[in-house]
Amino acid sequence: MKIGATLKYSPLDHAARWFGRFLPKGLYARALIIIIAPVILLQSVVAYVFMERHYELVTRRLSSAVTADIAALIDIYESYPQDRNTSTLSRIASERLQLDVDILRNTDLPPPGPKPFFDILDETLSNELRRQVDRPYWIDTVGRSSYVEVRIKLDQNDVMRVLARRSQAYASNSHIFLVWMGGSSFVLLGIAILFLRNQIRPILRLAEAAEALGKGREIDFRPRGAREVRQAGHTFLEMKRRIERNMEQRTTMLNGVSHDLRTILTRFKLSLVFLEQTAEVEDLKRDVDEMSRMLEGYLAFARGEGGDAGEQAVATDLRQLLEEVQSDAERQGHVTELDIVGDPMITVRPDAFRRLLFNLVSNAARHGDRIEITANHETRWLVLHVDDDGPGIPQDMREEVFKPFVRLDEARNQDEGGSGLGLAIARDVARSHGGDIVLGESPLGGLRATVRLPA
Ligand SMILES: Nc1ncnc2c1ncn2[C@@H]1O[C@H](COP(=O)(O)OP(=O)(O)OP(=O)(O)O)[C@@H](O)[C@H]1O
Ligand SMILES: [Mg+2]
Repeated sequence: MKIGATLKYSPLDHAARWFGRFLPKGLYARALIIIIAPVILLQSVVAYVFMERHYELVTRRLSSAVTADIAALIDIYESYPQDRNTSTLSRIASERLQLDVDILRNTDLPPPGPKPFFDILDETLSNELRRQVDRPYWIDTVGRSSYVEVRIKLDQNDVMRVLARRSQAYASNSHIFLVWMGGSSFVLLGIAILFLRNQIRPILRLAEAAEALGKGREIDFRPRGAREVRQAGHTFLEMKRRIERNMEQRTTMLNGVSHDLRTILTRFKLSLVFLEQTAEVEDLKRDVDEMSRMLEGYLAFARGEGGDAGEQAVATDLRQLLEEVQSDAERQGHVTELDIVGDPMITVRPDAFRRLLFNLVSNAARHGDRIEITANHETRWLVLHVDDDGPGIPQDMREEVFKPFVRLDEARNQDEGGSGLGLAIARDVARSHGGDIVLGESPLGGLRATVRLPA
């Protein structure tokens, strides 16, 4: 906590952390976002600029040109009235301008059609007509798909009807550009995803291996992938080897120590037998007994989980383990209830885990009359409560009693000869499986020991 208080976070850090809450947590998803986000951004910018500049400009130019043609046709029509049936005008229009022109006599403009919701063509063409022709007009850009129809009111109840191809007035195939852009980026994304998958898999493997090591499971891990990832993998393996070497050294040393000390203690006991059996010698004998018991306990603890350091984690039937423990406690005359919810199969080191259960239940049996064991394995975690109706442990001692050789019983004057290692070993077992044990208050009135394990 102190570290957090002394570090100053800049507003930028705050923003980054706030932003980070909305990002996906997985590496794969994040890497994908890192690739996809710039692509989408770039495409949006390009598409926007393209639409805004190129597309509109071209449409405006084309519309303007068509409108200019129409204006010219109107001028010609009005300047040369001798061409009564307008055959020359129609011919010129269709041959030179690719426009289909008719003069409709004695009609009026139809009522304005429905305006398309958003149509750049309708808009630009109307603008150009208003600007260049400046007469009442009617325009239909929706009706026939590939044609645009424009009608313009001439003088004397005549209406000029012009049919133009839509592509003449409109940059109609510009969307091809967008399709190409989108399509090619989909292909590129697909390739990127494939490659990314291969790059990320070794990292996930490494994470799995590290997790397995934390839970004490055996793993088959070989460094793969990019140089940095492989380097991390090798470092991990090196670390694992170092840990194993340390454990080995510790075991060898402890075996040596226990052998030497046991020999001396045995000599001690023998010498005591040959002495005259006075009260002092009886005291001495009791001390030596106590000493050898403590020595055994300490060595078992120091060897790690009571000596099962080499044990492998395997799928284990929790129900069977708990029933054993239950019948043990019942044989000692305790009412013991057992309740298991969820999958009874767990992956643990069975001997170590049995010791954990035994230590907790024997504590409950020593201090209480009724015992209740409840296990819940509905999620990835196993949550196990051991409850009793004994005196419990005061709040401020609940961490203390996990320390090796710490016993409250001595203060409570219950000399039933524990060594104060039970909880220490139990917690050691839980932690070596990647979990933990905490103590609390039981609904039964005594102590509740809660074990949480990823299993
Ligand atoms: N269920 C419980 N109710 C009340 N006190 C408890 C309970 N379990 C443990 N304690 C207290 O915590 C202390 C430490 O427990 P721990 O199991 O580590 O040692 P121990 O039981 O005294 O000895 P060991 O288990 O090595 O035989 C005990 O001495 C006891 O005072
Ligand atoms: Mg105990």
